[in-house]
Amino acid sequence: MIRILGIETSCDETAIAVLEVHGNKFSVTAEEISSQHEVHEAYGGVVPELASREHMRNLPLIYDSVLAGVSLSIADFDFIAVTVGPGLKGCLLMGLEFARGVSTASGVPLVGVNHIEGHVLAPLLDNPDLTFPFLALVVSGGHSEIVQVDAPGKYLVLARTTDDAAGEAFDKSAALLGIPYPGGPALARLADSINSSRFTLPKVMREAEGYSFSGLKTAIRLLVEKENNWPSDEQIKAEIAYAIQDSIVDALVFKLKKAIKKTGIKTIAITGGVSANRALREAVKALPGVSVYVPKMIHCMDNAAMIAYAGYYRFGENNRHLDADPIKSRWPVEQLPPLPERNLNGI
Ligand code: KG4
Ligand code: ZN
Repeated sequence: MIRILGIETSCDETAIAVLEVHGNKFSVTAEEISSQHEVHEAYGGVVPELASREHMRNLPLIYDSVLAGVSLSIADFDFIAVTVGPGLKGCLLMGLEFARGVSTASGVPLVGVNHIEGHVLAPLLDNPDLTFPFLALVVSGGHSEIVQVDAPGKYLVLARTTDDAAGEAFDKSAALLGIPYPGGPALARLADSINSSRFTLPKVMREAEGYSFSGLKTAIRLLVEKENNWPSDEQIKAEIAYAIQDSIVDALVFKLKKAIKKTGIKTIAITGGVSANRALREAVKALPGVSVYVPKMIHCMDNAAMIAYAGYYRFGENNRHLDADPIKSRWPVEQLPPLPERNLNGI
């Protein structure tokens, strides 16, 4: 059995998880996620300095709580996996320095993990029947991309956003409707409260290879300004929310359809915070002949179980310790090195 401690602090969630691997069976035996939404709400978005400070405060508390919950000490772990990019530099540093401290004090080795690789692999953690190759639609507050996954570590990015991410498009649209940060889930609930809308938004950037939400954002702003009676009219507000959700989902699914056509791959995994969205899940499931996989709800958003899981593949004899400065605030998955030589017998 291999036991891994996962640590995630790339944005505004502080998360720690325990992952146990028995042969080819993976089980998350403990995990805690502390979200900082209340801290950032007043500012309408994540304030990096405040986020770093919250991570520094939360990490030791969550660490103690997770280990106490499963009656383990750090000596019971084979290695630690920590997110080292992409993400907010100060936030990543907090997680890394905490992990380094624990690793140095205990002698338990440490491996650095790419956050997007965590999201890409998360559907596998919760769906043992998901098979390669599959297309991962990675949709979160910071990322929107379609990745062809041929095996762990073998990724081909087929589409990526050139501006805002899907979650950002949800959150910024929600803010226009007076819904506090991060307004994506609340906007989705409002949209789901009705079945149709008198409004339609233009279909933008269909020809381009990648995603772009800036044109849509302008169209949404114009609609919200034009129909300015929404603050007093719940029906109109809901119908605007419906049109917004519909257009973001449509943009995501349009490019996914292109990727399916191009690759012939019909096994789809949706992952990242926006994969919690009901309308998106249903729209993808409605595509002809596809099988759709999503992580458990807790593993859709930022979490440490997916980091421990990606760490399982990234850990090898040659990378038991990190470089002096492993943090990469930008780190596209196609720049990941091949998986290391495996030799997990000795740990
Ligand atoms: O993966 P995640 O927790 O963090 C990042 O890596 O960014 O994703 C958070 C994003 C936020 O933008 C949030 O509004 C969005 O996911 N989100 C949703 C829903 N649940 C979370 N967007 C639309 N519908 C939802 N149900
Ligand atoms: Zn994320």
